[in-house]
Amino acid sequence: MTTGEMVATIFKYGGISAAILVGLYAILLGLLATSTFQTHVVYLHKIQMTWFKDLTVPESFGFMRNQVTPFFLESSDGEKLYAWHILPVELYRRHEAALLEEPVGIVSDITSRHSFKLLRDDPNSRLILHFHGAAGTVGSGYRVPNYRALSAGQPGKIHVLTFDYRGFGKSTGTPSEDGMMLDAHAVVDWAMNIAGIPPNRILIFAQSMGTAVSVAISNYFALRSPPVVFAGAVLVAPFIDAATLASSYRLAGTIPLLSPIARFPVLFNYLQHFLRDKWSTKDRIAQYIRTNEANGEKYRMTLIHAEDDYDVPWCHTTTLFWHAINATTPVGISYDELEERKNESKQDFGAAGSVMEWHTEYGIIREEILKTGLHDVIMGNPVITIAVMRIFQALDASFTC
Ligand SMILES: *[C@@H]1O[C@H](CO)[C@@H](O)[C@H](O)[C@H]1NC(C)=O
Ligand SMILES: *[C@@H]1O[C@H](CO)[C@@H](O)[C@H](O)[C@H]1NC(C)=O
Repeated sequence: MTTGEMVATIFKYGGISAAILVGLYAILLGLLATSTFQTHVVYLHKIQMTWFKDLTVPESFGFMRNQVTPFFLESSDGEKLYAWHILPVELYRRHEAALLEEPVGIVSDITSRHSFKLLRDDPNSRLILHFHGAAGTVGSGYRVPNYRALSAGQPGKIHVLTFDYRGFGKSTGTPSEDGMMLDAHAVVDWAMNIAGIPPNRILIFAQSMGTAVSVAISNYFALRSPPVVFAGAVLVAPFIDAATLASSYRLAGTIPLLSPIARFPVLFNYLQHFLRDKWSTKDRIAQYIRTNEANGEKYRMTLIHAEDDYDVPWCHTTTLFWHAINATTPVGISYDELEERKNESKQDFGAAGSVMEWHTEYGIIREEILKTGLHDVIMGNPVITIAVMRIFQALDASFTC
């Protein structure tokens, strides 16, 4: 259907009120074309969702005193990124007395803190770098139960580093694709060079918007010479790219903001053209896997998505999984061919969903489609704990409680 036919159809069937709607919609699209408005709609960074709580008081989000060390990291272009280093609960219990003696609040030299030494000086500690989704802060929504689930498999060893991207929470600056790449870079640098944790003890966890940032930075490091490849990545509710997400995203899980656009290729192309930040995870995931296969680097990637995710539909994950698998094959595989393979070899766990694993000589790519878990609730569930442990144990079978 051409735009002309579309307008004609609207007038014919919808009458004048539909025309007004189209007008309003055009205004919305026009606004979206301005980059400031776009930044706010894409990242929702000014929506804090921490409801009157003070981010510098992690205890008010349900942590023990000094279980979390708040501090600032600096990006290479000078932005200050607010971060939390979170101790796992059993490690906290063992060192409670020493931790309680230290002052509370933002720490200027994190390397002087007991919690930091517990991470740096234990050759068996593990570190999860956490990339949160759009909107909110390190303390919002289901992120706190998420941190607990991430460490629950080995609560004496698994530390979490979570941070707010530029423009979010207490971090300075304004979000953008290039800028958030620098943020992610600063976080990886901190983990490897300040905390001194080698990549095979670092796991990447990301949800929603954060999956795009984390795949971009994982790909960037895999492409370096020599390559840097982390123990693995767990991606919850990832999306194909910004344009496809925008056209399928539902505001508050219900209002399909831009989905009418996806039906008209002309409008979709327009959307793709004017979106400043593309966040093409489908291309980056393929490049990441191709690079690791070519370099003979071990890699593990787990994609998790719930069928009842109303914010980001789960077809984003099946498409990304396909792009990832396709990148492992010399001649390629079609989406339908892969679906057929899934029908033959996926494991069906009934109400718990289904799992498909793809093994190559170097890598394991795993797709978990859950029946329930929504967009956020899923992050605090045992499926996350198990996904983390599966990756750490694949590298070191002795890594247990
Ligand atoms: C799948 O892989 C093949 C072979 O490497 C490549 O030519 C093709 O472009 C890939 N398909 C997609 C959709 O990326
Ligand atoms: C896979 O199985 C589903 C359900 O049994 C079926 O609808 C679908 O057509 C199958 N797909 C392929 C590619 O075989």
